Amino acid sequence: MRSIKFDFNNAMVKMASHGFSGEELDSPLLGKAHERMSSKHMGFRKLPLGQESIVQDIIKTAGEIRKKFNCFVVLGIGGSALGPIAVQQALARDSSMELIVLDNVDPETMKRTFDKLDIEKTMFNVITKSGKTSETMAQLMTAANMIAKKGFKIKEHVIATTDEKNGNLALIAQKEGLKTFIIPSDVGGRFSELSPVGLLPAAVCGIDIKSMLEGAAYMDKLCSENEKNPASVFALLHVLGMNKGMNVSVMIPYSDSLKYISDWYAQLWAESLGKRVDNKGNEVFAGQTPVKALGATDQHSQVQLYTEGPFDKISTFIKVERFRQEMHIPKAFEYVDDIAFLSGKTFSELINAECAATQYALTVAGRPNLEIALETVDAYSIGALLYFFEMAVSYAGEMMDINTFDQPGVEQGKLATFALMGKPGFEQQKEKMNSLPPKDEKWIMG
Ligand code: PA5
Repeated sequence: MRSIKFDFNNAMVKMASHGFSGEELDSPLLGKAHERMSSKHMGFRKLPLGQESIVQDIIKTAGEIRKKFNCFVVLGIGGSALGPIAVQQALARDSSMELIVLDNVDPETMKRTFDKLDIEKTMFNVITKSGKTSETMAQLMTAANMIAKKGFKIKEHVIATTDEKNGNLALIAQKEGLKTFIIPSDVGGRFSELSPVGLLPAAVCGIDIKSMLEGAAYMDKLCSENEKNPASVFALLHVLGMNKGMNVSVMIPYSDSLKYISDWYAQLWAESLGKRVDNKGNEVFAGQTPVKALGATDQHSQVQLYTEGPFDKISTFIKVERFRQEMHIPKAFEYVDDIAFLSGKTFSELINAECAATQYALTVAGRPNLEIALETVDAYSIGALLYFFEMAVSYAGEMMDINTFDQPGVEQGKLATFALMGKPGFEQQKEKMNSLPPKDEKWIMG
């Protein structure tokens, strides 16, 4: 089933003057990366086909949740939150189940969210791979406190998704007798959307998770068969681009339902490729900054920069060929000839014309750009799309010879938060932070 098409014509020098040649695409990087991908253990690649009994359990649990509750709150952040948001926004914006994903600890949002919850009708799903992220623990402590205060049992209102053994959540889940789903130890946060991290919230929202996994399995097969496949070529174009100073990767879906795919992609691309050292320990300061955009909205905000600014970007358009709803532009103000061309057309025609027009504008301005076309937005194509990006970033990491799957920079921030919040055992870290020179008043204004 060809639910996704990857078109890179506009990235070739024949079309865009700053694009790539056919010879560049024959780079040996492709074969080497494919070979490494085939031999390397990558936990996320087991997810499409290796979870039958877990999927059954998730579907059963989701059915029970849907009978008793009308609100499902995900407590988590980063890789434990962005996938659930992206998938629900793409596939279940109209679900009768309200999904709230906190993904932060802003006191105003926390207060507003918790104040309006009807605990009796709310199920919480606390998701954390490490089991100890401060933001997630603070969210959980708040939820647990509220559940107890209202006279309910924590184990009837909280499901845990975490590592089998490590972290505080595994301990809490065991002590409190929480229903628990396991995040496989070899699947990192940003690669976990197709594990229980994303599958449970999706199933609760009524999404066909088996179909999502089938889409991912299709993409895995497509990428396994040939070294030149959509994910490896997407990766190569970005890596070649980085070597030419294209340090920015723009993701611009032309569909509101795909807006949060860009947020999810941004984390995947940034955390996976942004690395100080390569696999040999050489300082490389690698990475490509992801930019989240939305078509057609950002044509009226950022596209001026993309067409005329520095040649530092490679842009990916996501186009939807068949929208799930259609609407015609009606006749109105017939005395104004200048707008008459719009009437009778559909909004699909308009948004897709905008997408094609912006691709054209970038191309003639010499800017390489790519198109991913989804036949339609459904569970299958979303599973395939997410998996496509996971494969692409893994290929890019192999081509760049870096560790795609760690995040030492994120861990550093987590440890510093522990120190600042007074966690025992982090006194030295706090002293280290205090040893920075004091701030100079003359550099503070206002
Ligand atoms: O991709 C990652 O590993 C991180 O962004 C994590 O998802 C994020 O820091 C949250 O971590 P955890 O799931 O351990 O709470």
